[in-house]
Amino acid sequence: MVSEHAASERTAQVLVASNRGPVTYAFREDGTLDARRGGGGLVSGLSAIGPDAGALWVCAALGDGDREAVRRGVAEPGVRMLDIDPAIHAAAYNGIANSVLWFVNHMLYQTPLEPVFDAEFRRQWVAYRTYNRAFAEVLATEAAPGAVVLIQDYHLALAPGMLREHRPDVRIGHFSHTPWAPPEYFRMLPDDIAEELLLGMLGADRLGFLTSRWARTFMRTCPSVLGPYDVVPSWPKDEAPHITVRGPGPARGRTWIGVHGLGADAEFLRRRSHETDVAERMVALREQVGPGRKTIVRVDRTELSKNIVRGLLAYRALLDEHPEWRERVVHVAFAYPSRQDLTVYRDYTAEVTRVAEEINAQYGTPGWTPVVLHVKDDFARSLAAYRMADVALVNPIRDGMNLVAKEIPVVSDAGCALVLSREAGAYEELHDEAIGVNPYDVAGTAAALHQALSMSDGERAERSKRLAVAATALPPQQWFLDQLHALQALGEGGQEPDDFGRA
Ligand code: F6P
Repeated sequence: MVSEHAASERTAQVLVASNRGPVTYAFREDGTLDARRGGGGLVSGLSAIGPDAGALWVCAALGDGDREAVRRGVAEPGVRMLDIDPAIHAAAYNGIANSVLWFVNHMLYQTPLEPVFDAEFRRQWVAYRTYNRAFAEVLATEAAPGAVVLIQDYHLALAPGMLREHRPDVRIGHFSHTPWAPPEYFRMLPDDIAEELLLGMLGADRLGFLTSRWARTFMRTCPSVLGPYDVVPSWPKDEAPHITVRGPGPARGRTWIGVHGLGADAEFLRRRSHETDVAERMVALREQVGPGRKTIVRVDRTELSKNIVRGLLAYRALLDEHPEWRERVVHVAFAYPSRQDLTVYRDYTAEVTRVAEEINAQYGTPGWTPVVLHVKDDFARSLAAYRMADVALVNPIRDGMNLVAKEIPVVSDAGCALVLSREAGAYEELHDEAIGVNPYDVAGTAAALHQALSMSDGERAERSKRLAVAATALPPQQWFLDQLHALQALGEGGQEPDDFGRA
Protein backbone atom coordinates (compact mmCIF):
# COMPACT_ATOMS: atom_id res chain seq x y z
CA MET A 1 0.00 0.00 0.00
CA VAL A 2 1.32 3.46 -0.85
CA SER A 3 0.74 6.22 1.65
CA GLU A 4 1.91 9.76 2.23
CA HIS A 5 5.25 9.82 4.00
CA ALA A 6 5.10 11.44 7.39
CA ALA A 7 8.54 12.25 8.78
CA SER A 8 8.85 10.82 12.26
CA GLU A 9 11.62 12.09 14.46
CA ARG A 10 13.45 9.96 17.03
CA THR A 11 10.75 7.30 17.24
CA ALA A 12 12.19 4.28 15.41
CA GLN A 13 13.32 1.48 17.73
CA VAL A 14 14.95 -0.71 15.09
CA LEU A 15 16.53 0.80 12.00
CA VAL A 16 17.98 -0.89 8.94
CA ALA A 17 20.14 1.03 6.48
CA SER A 18 21.14 -0.22 3.05
CA ASN A 19 21.75 1.18 -0.39
CA ARG A 20 19.05 -0.93 -2.05
CA GLY A 21 15.79 -0.87 -0.16
CA PRO A 22 12.85 -3.27 0.04
CA VAL A 23 10.77 -1.37 -2.53
CA THR A 24 11.23 0.29 -5.92
CA TYR A 25 8.88 2.58 -7.81
CA ALA A 26 8.12 2.40 -11.51
CA PHE A 27 6.02 4.78 -13.58
CA ARG A 28 2.69 3.47 -14.83
CA GLU A 29 1.51 4.64 -18.25
CA ASP A 30 -0.79 7.24 -16.63
CA GLY A 31 2.19 8.71 -14.71
CA THR A 32 1.23 7.29 -11.32
CA LEU A 33 3.74 5.25 -9.37
CA ASP A 34 3.70 1.51 -8.92
CA ALA A 35 5.47 0.24 -5.78
CA ARG A 36 7.19 -3.14 -6.15
CA ARG A 37 8.37 -5.03 -3.10
CA GLY A 38 11.63 -6.94 -3.39
CA GLY A 39 12.68 -10.17 -1.67
CA GLY A 40 15.90 -11.34 -0.08
CA GLY A 41 17.24 -12.29 3.34
CA LEU A 42 16.97 -8.85 4.88
CA VAL A 43 13.32 -8.40 3.84
CA SER A 44 12.23 -11.72 5.34
CA GLY A 45 14.59 -11.21 8.29
CA LEU A 46 12.99 -7.92 9.21
CA SER A 47 9.52 -9.45 8.94
CA ALA A 48 10.41 -11.48 12.05
CA ILE A 49 9.89 -8.48 14.34
CA GLY A 50 6.39 -7.77 12.99
CA PRO A 51 4.76 -4.58 11.71
CA ASP A 52 4.32 -2.96 15.14
CA ALA A 53 7.94 -3.06 16.25
CA GLY A 54 8.68 0.54 15.27
CA ALA A 55 11.08 -0.48 12.50
CA LEU A 56 12.34 1.88 9.83
CA TRP A 57 14.32 0.93 6.72
CA VAL A 58 16.47 3.76 5.36
CA CYS A 59 17.60 3.26 1.74
CA ALA A 60 18.66 5.23 -1.32
CA ALA A 61 16.40 6.23 -4.18
CA LEU A 62 17.93 4.34 -7.10
CA GLY A 63 15.97 5.15 -10.23
CA ASP A 64 13.76 7.91 -11.62
CA GLY A 65 10.64 6.27 -10.18
CA ASP A 66 12.16 6.20 -6.69
CA ARG A 67 13.24 9.83 -6.93
CA GLU A 68 9.82 10.89 -8.08
CA ALA A 69 8.26 8.99 -5.18
CA VAL A 70 10.43 10.97 -2.74
CA ARG A 71 9.51 14.24 -4.45
CA ARG A 72 5.80 13.43 -4.31
CA GLY A 73 6.07 12.39 -0.68
CA VAL A 74 4.97 8.86 -1.52
CA ALA A 75 6.35 6.17 0.78
CA GLU A 76 5.69 2.65 1.97
CA PRO A 77 5.08 2.38 5.70
CA GLY A 78 8.36 1.77 7.50
CA VAL A 79 10.57 2.84 4.58
CA ARG A 80 12.46 6.12 4.26
CA MET A 81 14.05 6.64 0.87
CA LEU A 82 16.83 9.20 0.49
CA ASP A 83 16.97 11.26 -2.68
CA ILE A 84 20.73 11.74 -2.74
CA ASP A 85 22.04 13.90 -5.60
CA PRO A 86 22.28 11.47 -8.59
CA ALA A 87 25.89 12.45 -9.35
CA ILE A 88 26.91 11.84 -5.72
CA HIS A 89 25.06 8.54 -5.68
CA ALA A 90 26.61 7.37 -8.97
CA ALA A 91 30.14 8.22 -7.78
CA ALA A 92 29.58 6.50 -4.42
CA TYR A 93 27.72 3.43 -5.72
CA ASN A 94 29.29 2.75 -9.13
CA GLY A 95 32.61 4.51 -8.55
CA ILE A 96 33.58 3.46 -5.03
CA ALA A 97 31.25 0.71 -3.77
CA ASN A 98 31.01 -1.40 -6.94
CA SER A 99 34.28 -0.54 -8.70
CA VAL A 100 36.62 -0.40 -5.70
CA LEU A 101 35.34 -1.89 -2.43
CA TRP A 102 33.53 -4.81 -4.07
CA PHE A 103 36.57 -5.54 -6.25
CA VAL A 104 38.93 -5.42 -3.28
CA ASN A 105 36.87 -7.78 -1.14
CA HIS A 106 36.33 -10.21 -4.03
CA MET A 107 40.00 -9.85 -5.10
CA LEU A 108 39.00 -9.32 -8.71
CA TYR A 109 41.42 -6.71 -10.02
CA GLN A 110 43.62 -7.51 -12.99
CA THR A 111 46.54 -6.02 -11.09
CA PRO A 112 49.00 -5.30 -13.92
CA LEU A 113 46.70 -2.44 -14.96
CA GLU A 114 44.30 -1.82 -12.12
CA PRO A 115 43.38 -0.34 -9.71
CA VAL A 116 44.59 3.20 -10.35
CA PHE A 117 43.97 5.48 -7.40
CA ASP A 118 44.16 8.91 -9.02
CA ALA A 119 42.46 12.30 -8.65
CA GLU A 120 39.20 10.90 -10.05
CA PHE A 121 39.22 8.23 -7.37
CA ARG A 122 39.73 10.92 -4.70
CA ARG A 123 36.77 12.89 -6.09
CA GLN A 124 34.61 9.78 -5.90
CA TRP A 125 35.77 9.10 -2.37
CA VAL A 126 34.52 12.53 -1.32
CA ALA A 127 31.14 11.59 -2.84
CA TYR A 128 31.22 8.27 -0.96
CA ARG A 129 31.71 10.22 2.28
CA THR A 130 28.82 12.55 1.44
CA TYR A 131 26.58 9.58 0.63
CA ASN A 132 27.46 7.86 3.92
CA ARG A 133 26.90 11.11 5.81
CA ALA A 134 23.42 11.47 4.30
CA PHE A 135 22.51 8.07 5.75
CA ALA A 136 24.13 8.78 9.12
CA GLU A 137 22.25 12.07 9.49
CA VAL A 138 18.85 10.57 8.74
CA LEU A 139 19.51 7.62 11.03
CA ALA A 140 20.50 10.07 13.77
CA THR A 141 17.26 12.00 13.24
CA GLU A 142 14.99 8.96 13.17
CA ALA A 143 16.45 6.70 15.89
CA ALA A 144 14.69 6.65 19.25
CA PRO A 145 16.93 6.93 22.33
CA GLY A 146 18.80 3.64 22.75
CA ALA A 147 17.52 2.30 19.39
CA VAL A 148 19.29 -0.48 17.49
CA VAL A 149 20.63 0.42 14.03
CA LEU A 150 21.68 -2.31 11.57
CA ILE A 151 23.81 -0.91 8.75
CA GLN A 152 24.46 -3.08 5.70
CA ASP A 153 27.51 -3.73 3.62
CA TYR A 154 30.41 -1.99 1.88
CA HIS A 155 28.24 0.81 0.53
CA LEU A 156 27.89 2.11 4.07
CA ALA A 157 31.24 1.39 5.69
CA LEU A 158 31.71 4.94 6.99
CA ALA A 159 28.17 5.38 8.30
CA PRO A 160 28.72 3.60 11.66
CA GLY A 161 31.48 6.02 12.72
CA MET A 162 29.53 9.03 11.45
CA LEU A 163 26.36 7.97 13.27
CA ARG A 164 28.34 7.30 16.44
CA GLU A 165 29.49 10.96 16.44
CA HIS A 166 25.87 12.18 16.33
CA ARG A 167 24.28 9.57 18.56
CA PRO A 168 26.50 7.85 21.12
CA ASP A 169 23.36 6.45 22.77
CA VAL A 170 22.28 4.12 19.94
CA ARG A 171 23.56 0.57 19.43
CA ILE A 172 25.11 0.20 16.03
CA GLY A 173 25.64 -3.00 14.08
CA HIS A 174 27.24 -3.31 10.66
CA PHE A 175 26.95 -6.43 8.52
CA SER A 176 29.24 -7.38 5.60
CA HIS A 177 27.49 -9.48 2.95
CA THR A 178 30.73 -9.95 1.01
CA PRO A 179 33.96 -11.82 1.70
CA TRP A 180 36.74 -9.88 3.38
CA ALA A 181 40.07 -9.49 1.57
CA PRO A 182 43.31 -10.64 3.22
CA PRO A 183 45.37 -7.74 4.65
CA GLU A 184 47.95 -7.85 1.81
CA TYR A 185 45.20 -7.35 -0.76
CA PHE A 186 43.15 -4.86 1.29
CA ARG A 187 46.25 -2.72 1.65
CA MET A 188 46.12 -2.03 -2.06
CA LEU A 189 43.83 0.83 -1.00
CA PRO A 190 45.70 4.06 -0.27
CA ASP A 191 46.73 4.04 3.41
CA ASP A 192 44.55 6.96 4.48
CA ILE A 193 41.48 5.47 2.71
CA ALA A 194 42.04 2.01 4.20
CA GLU A 195 42.32 3.60 7.64
CA GLU A 196 39.22 5.76 7.22
CA LEU A 197 37.22 2.77 6.04
CA LEU A 198 38.17 0.53 8.95
CA LEU A 199 37.70 3.26 11.54
CA GLY A 200 34.29 3.96 10.02
CA MET A 201 33.27 0.33 10.48
CA LEU A 202 34.82 0.16 13.94
CA GLY A 203 32.49 2.99 14.93
CA ALA A 204 29.91 0.18 15.24
CA ASP A 205 29.37 -1.70 18.50
CA ARG A 206 29.32 -4.94 16.60
CA LEU A 207 30.41 -6.11 13.16
CA GLY A 208 28.72 -9.11 11.57
CA PHE A 209 30.15 -11.44 8.91
CA LEU A 210 28.73 -14.39 7.00
CA THR A 211 31.49 -16.85 7.91
CA SER A 212 34.23 -17.16 10.48
CA ARG A 213 36.76 -17.06 7.60
CA TRP A 214 35.74 -13.50 6.64
CA ALA A 215 35.54 -12.42 10.29
CA ARG A 216 39.02 -13.70 11.07
CA THR A 217 40.41 -12.07 7.95
CA PHE A 218 38.88 -8.76 8.99
CA MET A 219 40.43 -9.09 12.43
CA ARG A 220 43.84 -9.71 10.86
CA THR A 221 43.41 -6.68 8.61
CA CYS A 222 42.78 -4.17 11.40
CA PRO A 223 46.21 -4.18 13.11
CA SER A 224 47.99 -4.26 9.76
CA VAL A 225 46.21 -1.11 8.52
CA LEU A 226 45.75 0.84 11.73
CA GLY A 227 49.43 1.12 12.53
CA PRO A 228 49.28 4.47 14.36
CA TYR A 229 46.58 3.13 16.70
CA ASP A 230 46.81 0.64 19.47
CA VAL A 231 44.74 -2.22 18.01
CA VAL A 232 44.16 -5.46 19.87
CA PRO A 233 42.09 -8.20 18.19
CA SER A 234 41.15 -10.82 20.71
CA TRP A 235 39.55 -14.27 20.75
CA PRO A 236 39.05 -14.91 24.45
CA LYS A 237 37.66 -18.27 25.59
CA ASP A 238 34.98 -16.80 27.82
CA GLU A 239 33.79 -13.89 25.69
CA ALA A 240 32.88 -13.24 22.06
CA PRO A 241 35.73 -12.03 19.82
CA HIS A 242 36.33 -8.32 19.72
CA ILE A 243 38.73 -5.64 18.62
CA THR A 244 39.89 -2.90 20.93
CA VAL A 245 41.15 0.29 19.35
CA ARG A 246 42.73 3.12 21.25
CA GLY A 247 43.65 6.36 19.59
CA PRO A 248 42.07 9.49 18.14
CA GLY A 249 39.08 9.52 15.81
CA PRO A 250 35.55 8.17 15.80
CA ALA A 251 36.33 4.57 16.78
CA ARG A 252 34.96 3.36 20.11
CA GLY A 253 37.12 1.35 22.42
CA ARG A 254 35.66 -2.05 21.71
CA THR A 255 33.85 -3.53 18.73
CA TRP A 256 32.41 -7.03 19.01
CA ILE A 257 32.61 -9.45 16.12
CA GLY A 258 29.84 -11.92 15.28
CA VAL A 259 29.29 -14.57 12.64
CA HIS A 260 25.82 -15.15 11.20
CA GLY A 261 25.69 -17.61 8.33
CA LEU A 262 22.50 -16.62 6.55
CA GLY A 263 20.56 -19.74 5.55
CA ALA A 264 17.84 -20.52 3.03
CA ASP A 265 14.20 -19.80 3.85
CA ALA A 266 12.88 -23.37 3.51
CA GLU A 267 9.26 -22.62 4.32
CA PHE A 268 8.99 -19.83 1.76
CA LEU A 269 10.93 -21.68 -0.96
CA ARG A 270 8.98 -24.93 -0.64
CA ARG A 271 5.65 -23.11 -0.75
CA ARG A 272 6.58 -20.72 -3.55
CA SER A 273 8.15 -23.41 -5.72
CA HIS A 274 4.85 -25.30 -5.83
CA GLU A 275 2.76 -22.44 -7.15
CA THR A 276 1.15 -22.58 -10.58
CA ASP A 277 3.54 -20.24 -12.39
CA VAL A 278 6.49 -22.44 -11.38
CA ALA A 279 4.70 -25.56 -12.68
CA GLU A 280 4.10 -23.73 -15.99
CA ARG A 281 7.79 -22.80 -16.26
CA MET A 282 8.73 -26.42 -15.59
CA VAL A 283 6.68 -27.58 -18.55
CA ALA A 284 8.44 -25.08 -20.82
CA LEU A 285 11.87 -25.90 -19.43
CA ARG A 286 11.35 -29.67 -19.77
CA GLU A 287 10.50 -29.05 -23.39
CA GLN A 288 13.79 -27.19 -23.89
CA VAL A 289 15.82 -29.84 -22.04
CA GLY A 290 14.23 -32.82 -23.76
CA PRO A 291 12.97 -36.09 -22.28
CA GLY A 292 15.14 -38.27 -20.06
CA ARG A 293 18.10 -35.91 -19.92
CA LYS A 294 19.95 -34.88 -16.80
CA THR A 295 20.34 -31.21 -15.91
CA ILE A 296 23.26 -29.21 -14.55
CA VAL A 297 21.64 -26.06 -13.17
CA ARG A 298 23.16 -22.72 -12.29
CA VAL A 299 21.31 -19.53 -11.39
CA ASP A 300 23.25 -16.32 -10.81
CA ARG A 301 23.10 -12.63 -11.05
CA THR A 302 25.81 -11.97 -13.63
CA GLU A 303 28.36 -10.65 -11.16
CA LEU A 304 32.01 -10.88 -12.12
CA SER A 305 32.68 -13.14 -9.15
CA LYS A 306 30.21 -15.84 -10.17
CA ASN A 307 32.59 -17.49 -12.65
CA ILE A 308 29.91 -18.34 -15.18
CA VAL A 309 32.34 -18.42 -18.12
CA ARG A 310 34.65 -20.98 -16.44
CA GLY A 311 31.51 -22.97 -15.56
CA LEU A 312 30.66 -23.11 -19.27
CA LEU A 313 34.24 -24.04 -20.14
CA ALA A 314 34.09 -26.86 -17.57
CA TYR A 315 30.87 -28.10 -19.16
CA ARG A 316 32.56 -28.04 -22.57
CA ALA A 317 35.51 -29.99 -21.12
CA LEU A 318 33.02 -32.52 -19.72
CA LEU A 319 31.54 -33.04 -23.21
CA ASP A 320 35.08 -33.47 -24.57
CA GLU A 321 36.42 -35.77 -21.87
CA HIS A 322 33.24 -37.78 -21.45
CA PRO A 323 31.48 -37.92 -24.81
CA GLU A 324 29.07 -40.43 -23.26
CA TRP A 325 27.27 -37.44 -21.76
CA ARG A 326 26.54 -35.83 -25.13
CA GLU A 327 22.80 -35.79 -25.84
CA ARG A 328 22.22 -37.01 -22.25
CA VAL A 329 22.74 -33.81 -20.29
CA VAL A 330 21.79 -30.13 -20.59
CA HIS A 331 23.44 -27.20 -18.83
CA VAL A 332 20.59 -24.93 -17.70
CA ALA A 333 22.30 -21.60 -17.03
CA PHE A 334 20.42 -18.53 -15.85
CA ALA A 335 22.59 -15.42 -15.80
CA TYR A 336 20.52 -12.43 -14.82
CA PRO A 337 21.74 -8.87 -15.50
CA SER A 338 23.45 -6.99 -12.71
CA ARG A 339 25.16 -3.57 -12.46
CA GLN A 340 24.77 -2.87 -16.17
CA ASP A 341 25.94 0.73 -15.67
CA LEU A 342 29.49 -0.67 -15.57
CA THR A 343 31.19 -1.55 -18.87
CA VAL A 344 33.08 -4.46 -17.36
CA TYR A 345 29.75 -6.07 -16.34
CA ARG A 346 28.21 -5.54 -19.78
CA ASP A 347 31.29 -7.09 -21.40
CA TYR A 348 31.17 -10.05 -19.05
CA THR A 349 27.48 -10.66 -19.77
CA ALA A 350 28.25 -10.61 -23.51
CA GLU A 351 31.07 -13.13 -22.99
CA VAL A 352 28.72 -15.51 -21.15
CA THR A 353 26.33 -15.44 -24.12
CA ARG A 354 29.17 -15.82 -26.63
CA VAL A 355 30.66 -18.90 -24.96
CA ALA A 356 27.22 -20.53 -24.52
CA GLU A 357 26.45 -19.99 -28.20
CA GLU A 358 29.85 -21.36 -29.16
CA ILE A 359 29.21 -24.58 -27.21
CA ASN A 360 25.78 -24.96 -28.79
CA ALA A 361 27.22 -24.40 -32.27
CA GLN A 362 30.04 -26.89 -31.67
CA TYR A 363 28.14 -29.76 -30.03
CA GLY A 364 24.41 -29.15 -30.59
CA THR A 365 22.37 -31.56 -32.71
CA PRO A 366 18.89 -31.11 -34.19
CA GLY A 367 17.34 -32.67 -31.08
CA TRP A 368 19.74 -31.43 -28.39
CA THR A 369 20.72 -27.94 -27.25
CA PRO A 370 23.66 -28.47 -24.84
CA VAL A 371 23.29 -25.10 -23.05
CA VAL A 372 19.93 -23.52 -22.29
CA LEU A 373 20.85 -19.96 -21.35
CA HIS A 374 18.37 -17.39 -20.06
CA VAL A 375 19.40 -13.85 -19.25
CA LYS A 376 16.03 -12.32 -18.36
CA ASP A 377 15.29 -12.39 -14.64
CA ASP A 378 12.36 -14.66 -13.83
CA PHE A 379 12.09 -15.92 -10.26
CA ALA A 380 9.41 -18.55 -11.06
CA ARG A 381 11.63 -19.98 -13.81
CA SER A 382 14.60 -20.07 -11.41
CA LEU A 383 12.54 -22.13 -8.98
CA ALA A 384 11.45 -24.41 -11.84
CA ALA A 385 15.13 -25.03 -12.65
CA TYR A 386 15.89 -25.63 -8.95
CA ARG A 387 13.18 -28.31 -8.86
CA MET A 388 14.55 -30.01 -11.99
CA ALA A 389 18.23 -29.91 -10.94
CA ASP A 390 20.18 -33.19 -10.92
CA VAL A 391 23.40 -31.25 -10.43
CA ALA A 392 23.78 -27.71 -9.06
CA LEU A 393 26.87 -25.87 -10.26
CA VAL A 394 27.99 -23.08 -7.90
CA ASN A 395 31.61 -22.22 -8.70
CA PRO A 396 32.25 -18.58 -7.72
CA ILE A 397 35.76 -17.19 -7.68
CA ARG A 398 34.88 -15.75 -4.28
CA ASP A 399 31.53 -15.20 -2.61
CA GLY A 400 30.35 -13.96 0.79
CA MET A 401 27.91 -16.88 1.15
CA ASN A 402 26.02 -17.86 -2.05
CA LEU A 403 22.42 -18.65 -1.25
CA VAL A 404 21.80 -20.53 -4.51
CA ALA A 405 24.04 -23.31 -3.16
CA LYS A 406 21.71 -23.51 -0.17
CA GLU A 407 18.42 -23.09 -2.02
CA ILE A 408 18.73 -25.74 -4.76
CA PRO A 409 19.06 -28.73 -2.39
CA VAL A 410 16.01 -27.47 -0.47
CA VAL A 411 13.84 -27.25 -3.59
CA SER A 412 15.09 -29.95 -6.02
CA ASP A 413 12.41 -32.61 -6.50
CA ALA A 414 14.60 -35.71 -6.70
CA GLY A 415 17.62 -34.31 -4.84
CA CYS A 416 20.69 -32.75 -6.42
CA ALA A 417 24.44 -33.22 -6.26
CA LEU A 418 26.15 -29.93 -5.43
CA VAL A 419 29.40 -28.93 -7.16
CA LEU A 420 30.60 -26.10 -4.94
CA SER A 421 33.56 -23.74 -5.03
CA ARG A 422 35.69 -23.87 -1.93
CA GLU A 423 35.83 -20.05 -2.17
CA ALA A 424 32.09 -19.62 -1.51
CA GLY A 425 31.18 -18.81 2.07
CA ALA A 426 28.58 -21.60 1.91
CA TYR A 427 31.44 -24.12 1.59
CA GLU A 428 32.18 -23.64 5.30
CA GLU A 429 28.78 -25.18 6.13
CA LEU A 430 28.17 -27.52 3.16
CA HIS A 431 31.56 -29.04 2.37
CA ASP A 432 30.80 -32.46 3.89
CA GLU A 433 28.08 -33.24 1.37
CA ALA A 434 29.18 -31.12 -1.61
CA ILE A 435 31.79 -31.92 -4.25
CA GLY A 436 34.33 -29.15 -3.67
CA VAL A 437 36.16 -27.45 -6.53
CA ASN A 438 38.93 -24.93 -7.06
CA PRO A 439 37.03 -22.34 -9.14
CA TYR A 440 39.99 -21.66 -11.45
CA ASP A 441 40.51 -25.34 -12.24
CA VAL A 442 38.32 -25.94 -15.28
CA ALA A 443 39.51 -29.53 -15.78
CA GLY A 444 38.92 -30.23 -12.08
CA THR A 445 35.43 -28.73 -12.30
CA ALA A 446 34.68 -30.90 -15.36
CA ALA A 447 35.76 -33.96 -13.36
CA ALA A 448 33.53 -32.86 -10.47
CA LEU A 449 30.58 -32.49 -12.88
CA HIS A 450 31.22 -36.03 -14.14
CA GLN A 451 31.33 -37.32 -10.57
CA ALA A 452 28.10 -35.48 -9.75
CA LEU A 453 26.29 -36.77 -12.84
CA SER A 454 27.48 -40.30 -12.14
CA MET A 455 26.24 -40.36 -8.53
CA SER A 456 23.55 -42.96 -7.89
CA ASP A 457 20.01 -41.66 -7.38
CA GLY A 458 20.03 -42.94 -3.81
CA GLU A 459 23.29 -41.24 -2.82
CA ARG A 460 22.26 -38.02 -4.53
CA ALA A 461 18.94 -37.92 -2.67
CA GLU A 462 20.58 -38.68 0.68
CA ARG A 463 23.29 -36.07 0.25
CA SER A 464 20.75 -33.52 -0.92
CA LYS A 465 18.67 -34.10 2.21
CA ARG A 466 21.70 -33.51 4.41
CA LEU A 467 22.62 -30.42 2.39
CA ALA A 468 19.11 -29.07 2.88
CA VAL A 469 19.37 -29.53 6.65
CA ALA A 470 22.69 -27.66 6.80
CA ALA A 471 21.42 -25.01 4.38
CA THR A 472 18.40 -24.13 6.49
CA ALA A 473 20.13 -24.10 9.88
CA LEU A 474 19.79 -20.33 10.19
CA PRO A 475 16.68 -19.04 8.39
CA PRO A 476 16.59 -15.31 7.58
CA GLN A 477 14.22 -14.47 10.43
CA GLN A 478 16.51 -16.06 13.04
CA TRP A 479 19.58 -14.59 11.32
CA PHE A 480 18.09 -11.13 11.81
CA LEU A 481 16.82 -11.71 15.35
CA ASP A 482 20.21 -13.07 16.48
CA GLN A 483 21.91 -9.85 15.39
CA LEU A 484 19.22 -7.71 16.95
CA HIS A 485 19.35 -9.56 20.27
CA ALA A 486 23.16 -9.50 20.37
CA LEU A 487 23.09 -5.71 20.03
CA GLN A 488 20.29 -5.33 22.57
CA ALA A 489 22.21 -7.53 25.02
CA LEU A 490 25.23 -5.21 24.73
CA GLY A 491 23.10 -2.27 25.83
CA GLU A 492 21.86 -4.22 28.83
CA GLY A 493 25.37 -5.13 29.91
CA GLY A 494 24.70 -8.72 28.78
CA GLN A 495 27.29 -11.07 27.39
CA GLU A 496 27.63 -11.96 23.74
CA PRO A 497 26.98 -15.57 22.86
CA ASP A 498 30.10 -17.12 21.40
CA ASP A 499 28.95 -17.57 17.83
CA PHE A 500 32.38 -17.37 16.28
CA GLY A 501 32.63 -21.04 15.48
CA ARG A 502 35.80 -21.53 17.55
CA ALA A 503 37.05 -25.04 18.22
O1 F6P B 1 27.15 -9.88 -4.46
C1 F6P B 1 26.34 -9.68 -3.37
C2 F6P B 1 26.25 -8.22 -3.09
O2 F6P B 1 27.46 -7.60 -3.38
C3 F6P B 1 25.86 -7.95 -1.66
O3 F6P B 1 26.94 -7.89 -0.80
C4 F6P B 1 25.16 -6.64 -1.82
O4 F6P B 1 24.31 -6.35 -0.75
C5 F6P B 1 24.46 -6.77 -3.13
O5 F6P B 1 25.25 -7.63 -3.90
C6 F6P B 1 24.26 -5.46 -3.80
O6 F6P B 1 23.77 -5.62 -5.08
P1 F6P B 1 23.31 -4.39 -5.98
O7 F6P B 1 24.55 -3.68 -6.40
O8 F6P B 1 22.59 -5.00 -7.12
O9 F6P B 1 22.42 -3.56 -5.14
